[in-house]
Amino acid sequence: MESDSVRRMESGAARARAGLGAWLDDRLGLSGIRYPVPTHANTLPYTLGGITIVSFLLLVLTGIYLGQFYDPGEVADSHASVVFIIQEPFLGELMRSLHYWLAAAFVVTLLLHMVRTFASGAFKAPREFVWITGVLLFGLGGAALFTGTVLKADQEALEAIEHNNEIADLFGVMAFWFSADFTDNVSQFLRLYIAHVSIVPVVIVGVLAVHLMLIKKHGIAPLPFGTAEEVRERETRESQVSFSSHLRHIGLWGLVVLGISLILSGLFPTGLGPEGVEGIEVTKPPWYFLWLYQPENWFGLDALWVFSAVLFVGLLAVPFLDRSPERDPRRRRFWIGLGAAVLVAWLVLTILGVTSEVVSHVEQSE
Ligand code: HEM
Repeated sequence: MESDSVRRMESGAARARAGLGAWLDDRLGLSGIRYPVPTHANTLPYTLGGITIVSFLLLVLTGIYLGQFYDPGEVADSHASVVFIIQEPFLGELMRSLHYWLAAAFVVTLLLHMVRTFASGAFKAPREFVWITGVLLFGLGGAALFTGTVLKADQEALEAIEHNNEIADLFGVMAFWFSADFTDNVSQFLRLYIAHVSIVPVVIVGVLAVHLMLIKKHGIAPLPFGTAEEVRERETRESQVSFSSHLRHIGLWGLVVLGISLILSGLFPTGLGPEGVEGIEVTKPPWYFLWLYQPENWFGLDALWVFSAVLFVGLLAVPFLDRSPERDPRRRRFWIGLGAAVLVAWLVLTILGVTSEVVSHVEQSE
């Protein structure tokens, strides 16, 4: 008797939930996210782009917190406000370190995502523009890192701005926004802050929206193994899962990234050098720009923009160079070999950057 009334109450609650679900779905179209995607979308290599999105969203949240206490006026104020963030606000030091480690997670997952899409030939027709918007996101990621690291206003930051200004001088009027003389009205520091917290993230969101719309249009690329014919044939037979289950996978991996970043923040809080002094060069850049350090030692300041431009243009050209219908890495030995050579060169240059002596390029260029 009692269990009958419990069952009736439970089924009543289930009906009410279903009713509320249907009511919301009629208005918000939530069931639209349950469209089918191939089963392999839920493997880690095919979830890396989604994890990059989660890192980006967490960067925005921690960045909003830091922005409540950061003072972007002049170098001395900015540096003092970072010291304040470390010492005063509730969880300030943790948020700052988390922002730093999430940026590292963003870079690492972005690079792995790029390696996966390159190795699996996912950029091949009809997905060329998915790749191209991806390369734009790669460049914008670099801009976010650059404008972010200079905000510390320590010695490393001032040297980065000095390099920026010298390259802007080389390009003259073409690089007008990057020049320290763009306007007398506000400091260059304030403009870099605005770039970091609004211009760059807003452009990232816009380009990301196109990236994702194109992926929705073309669907996720098939698993690459076998001849082009076998790949096409397997694609039509592969089982499907709901996109909502893919979102759950991304969410779970996002929690793993957050957990790892929290642990790293606890173990290795982000450091801060003393307030920067202009006109000297005694530090090296952060690890993600270290691959450019040795080329600058060898070839001078020009190496910074020449190496970056060659990498950027080379990446943009990938879909127009490797054009065979084959996706299997074993059937694209030349291009896979070239991609591997670029990765090894990047790694060797980074190691050279870590191990080399600190050199003053400022003095060299005088
Ligand atoms: C902010 C940076 C980026 C974000 C948030 C992002 C996000 C995503 C997401 C969510 C997907 C769906 C599949 C997956 O996760 O693997 C994807 C696919 C793709 N992305 Fe990205 N991406 C970024 C940067 C890049 C870069 C730098 C490249 C290459 C230069 C790239 C190339 C591609 C390609 C070719 C696909 C299609 C993959 C397929 O169909 O298998 N993306 N991206």
